[in-house]
Amino acid sequence: MKFFIDTANLSEIKEAYELGVLDGVTTNPSLMAKEGISGDENVRAHYKAICDIVDDNVSAEVIATDFNGIIKEGKELAKLDDKIVVKVPMIKEGVKAIKYFSSEGIRTNCTLIFGPGQAILAAKAGATYVSPFVGRLDDISYDGVDLIEQIVHIYENYGYATQVLAASIRHTMHLIRCAEIGADVATCPLKVITGLLNHPLTDAGLAQFLADHAKAAKK
Ligand code: E4P
Repeated sequence: MKFFIDTANLSEIKEAYELGVLDGVTTNPSLMAKEGISGDENVRAHYKAICDIVDDNVSAEVIATDFNGIIKEGKELAKLDDKIVVKVPMIKEGVKAIKYFSSEGIRTNCTLIFGPGQAILAAKAGATYVSPFVGRLDDISYDGVDLIEQIVHIYENYGYATQVLAASIRHTMHLIRCAEIGADVATCPLKVITGLLNHPLTDAGLAQFLADHAKAAKK
């Protein structure tokens, strides 16, 4: 399973990268705004800064919603760095754009997926990644992880190459359930990645080992 971090915060990206388990980064316009990044030039410089930290897979989202606008913006984003994956919303013009990008060898991440039909369209258009939003479905009393399971199953039926990127992951159990089901990727906040470290028996066990070692050293 690939781990992406879902943030535009450079220090969090560095911290996750230094852990040695990070495979990529997803951002969106809200996450960029949260970091106070605005204006085309600043946004692009920020994407470059993210690409300088990680090895690959930096999702950069287009703002345009018309076909020509998405193509223009996506091409500009893709030119910034080979690590860029153009993030395109699941709308009609987005599907057409994904088909175009796929024919040009530009990687895409189809975002804002909330149903299996949308995931089928994105895969048929040739998306590299499809991003179903687990937490936002849970928020409205649907089981987001069920959607991941459905999409993984459908993609297996037809051998689609599109990778299932579980997004809007809010806690460690989301991530673990997505891993059990076979999601290819999970994108999550830093606290979810570091949260996987925690077990009270690990803490207690380590404290005991260190205490016994110190006691033996005094003898
Ligand atoms: C996915 O790529 C989105 O950026 C993200 O996972 C959305 O998460 P949220 O629902 O916590 O905002």
